[in-house]
Amino acid sequence: MSQSEEYGWKLSNLISNSNFKFDREEIINICGKENLVDALKVISNWENYIPTPLISLDELSNQLKLNNIFYKDESKRFNLKSFKALGGAYAVEKVTKGNKNITVSTATAGNHGRSVAWGAKKLGLECKIFISEFVSEIRSQEMKKLGADVIRVKGNYEKSLEECIKQSKTNKWEIVQDVAWKNYEYVPKLTISGYSVMIDEISRQTDQYITHIFLQAGVGGMASGAIAGVAKYFKRIPKIIIVEPENADCVLKSIEKGSLQKVNIQKESIMGGMSCGEVSLVPWQILKNSVNFCTSVADKYVAKTVAMLKNKHFCNKNIIGGECATPGLISLIASCDSANIKEKLELNKSSNVLLIGCEGDADKNLYSELLNKGNKELGN
Ligand SMILES: Cc1ncc(COP(=O)(O)O)c(C=O)c1O
Repeated sequence: MSQSEEYGWKLSNLISNSNFKFDREEIINICGKENLVDALKVISNWENYIPTPLISLDELSNQLKLNNIFYKDESKRFNLKSFKALGGAYAVEKVTKGNKNITVSTATAGNHGRSVAWGAKKLGLECKIFISEFVSEIRSQEMKKLGADVIRVKGNYEKSLEECIKQSKTNKWEIVQDVAWKNYEYVPKLTISGYSVMIDEISRQTDQYITHIFLQAGVGGMASGAIAGVAKYFKRIPKIIIVEPENADCVLKSIEKGSLQKVNIQKESIMGGMSCGEVSLVPWQILKNSVNFCTSVADKYVAKTVAMLKNKHFCNKNIIGGECATPGLISLIASCDSANIKEKLELNKSSNVLLIGCEGDADKNLYSELLNKGNKELGN
């Protein structure tokens, strides 16, 4: 079967960055070189630390006629089931500096809060987590299991953050937020530095030079952390392609205009952690010049991709990838489905592509819903 008959997938949008200029030093300095070095040292000394698997999707690389496709499986990250375990927990440790009388707080779509709660539990600290009405009960339960007080706020993520800031000021709680705002940049820099550990691991898991990386973005923390890791740990700089949900393409819109743009989200994406309307300030400083291309994809491919990962469609391993693990794959497959786009991105038989499998079944109910739906769509 030809690729287009098999997949027939399309990007919703693709733009290139006219302000592209990758500057290793500048990127490393934005994060803080000492933060990058420290994050690796601290995190790799945590109990039970092991690098997450780097899986070769060899069936898919054959189908798409690429040299290699590597999938970094973050479902295996410290039992927390997402890369976010690297950011929030590390920031908790740094900002509390061994002080046991501090209460930490945060607002979250789920995975960041889980990381903060886990970090607080490890250190025996009180933890207050603010969630919007859209965060599932399962995600809330996971944070409660880690000993956090979970406070549900009416409205969306922004409302939960406003409430978190308000109550934290009144009660003198230490906010550990992954999003930056004016005069709040240190903690987001720490979380980004934590995420860069993924790239250090990859640099030691393969001797192939990565030529392309597809990076998911919500507010841009994960993507900018990975890019800081590339600047620090990779010998050669790959092409960097951002992927977002089509209804929440704030990085794409900002890169297109060359300045920060807000997106008014009309419909929340099923990729909940990535359904963000605004790029965070620190990530933006990194993303604006280091990204080659931005793409966006539709939700309609998510369930099928979840099922394909599980059903060994891309390699002979059974991979648990949740909703936010799929867009890199979707974007790569859709790019290769179009000869023009494939050529534009210089994807060919010498390409070694890196995808980040950001999360596993962090929300078990949603995961099984998507898996069932995807299996039906595949005729299984
Ligand atoms: C589970 C999850 N949450 C959130 C995000 C978005 O991260 P950020 O908001 O740092 O861009 C991703 C991936 O990009 C993700 O996989």
